[in-house]
Amino acid sequence: MGQDIDTGSAHSARIYDYIIGGKDHYPADREAGDAMCREWPALPVHMRANRDFMNRAVRHLAEEAGIRQFLDIGTGIPTSPNIHEIAQSASPGARVVYVDNDPLVLRLSQGLLNSTPEGRTAYIEADMRDPASILHAPELRATLDLTQPVALTVIAIVHFMMDEDDAVGIVRRLLDPLPSGSYLAMSIGTAEFAPEEVGRVAREYAARGMPMRLRTLAEAREFFAGLDLVEPGIVQVHKWHPDGAGTEVVRDADIAMYGAVARKP
Ligand SMILES: C[S@@+](CC[C@H](N)C(=O)[O-])C[C@H]1O[C@@H](n2cnc3c(N)ncnc32)[C@H](O)[C@@H]1O
Repeated sequence: MGQDIDTGSAHSARIYDYIIGGKDHYPADREAGDAMCREWPALPVHMRANRDFMNRAVRHLAEEAGIRQFLDIGTGIPTSPNIHEIAQSASPGARVVYVDNDPLVLRLSQGLLNSTPEGRTAYIEADMRDPASILHAPELRATLDLTQPVALTVIAIVHFMMDEDDAVGIVRRLLDPLPSGSYLAMSIGTAEFAPEEVGRVAREYAARGMPMRLRTLAEAREFFAGLDLVEPGIVQVHKWHPDGAGTEVVRDADIAMYGAVARKP
């Protein structure tokens, strides 16, 4: 597997890991991360707030909405707590399927498979742009019961989907087979609160072969059409169910991500 990992070029999963304080990155990722932080010093605050939103959304889904099954697209390098750790602390029998297309995430996926004995986790190496390969994967069918509600989590990934990829259509196709009472949790990159700074960071990604598609609030809403948004709707991630762990002191201009959770009627 090692030969698949291009350590000479920066990669989105590893830049994120570097900036949120992980340990699985290479010099090219650190060079990219440092360049991006020079362009926008708030980038670590923004990325940390995204990860914290994911944690709060999963906790809400497990504890308040009673969700026991999760399908996570664009998982990233394992960073504790991962989704199964949060969900299984609320409900030890929770089941989680993780999906990513980065070979390094596959290599480190053992860190995602340390399920409780009562629960279950699985990892699928797949490209989100091919939702059928995810939905038909034997690991998904062996892990999740699609007659019961599932939370689809799509956190900090659709900004890597270009218009021709039709991210809204992909999310729709992934939600289609899930029963009523399932949920969608997403975070969606936006330049609406710091257009110049976020624009400069996007140019740094693009210069390294990772073009970005940032979205307006109206575009973010398209992902949730036909679903019932959980209060407070679509807001910057630090404003979604703040838990007093520091999110309340974050400045709006430092956050370039909308977040929301919605229920499939
Ligand atoms: C910024 S990380 C987000 C990680 C995690 N969801 C979080 O928010 O903490 C984005 C992840 O999406 C993955 N990714 C990007 N494009 C993808 C695609 N087309 N299919 C599957 N995964 C993809 C990357 O490899 C990376 O791990």
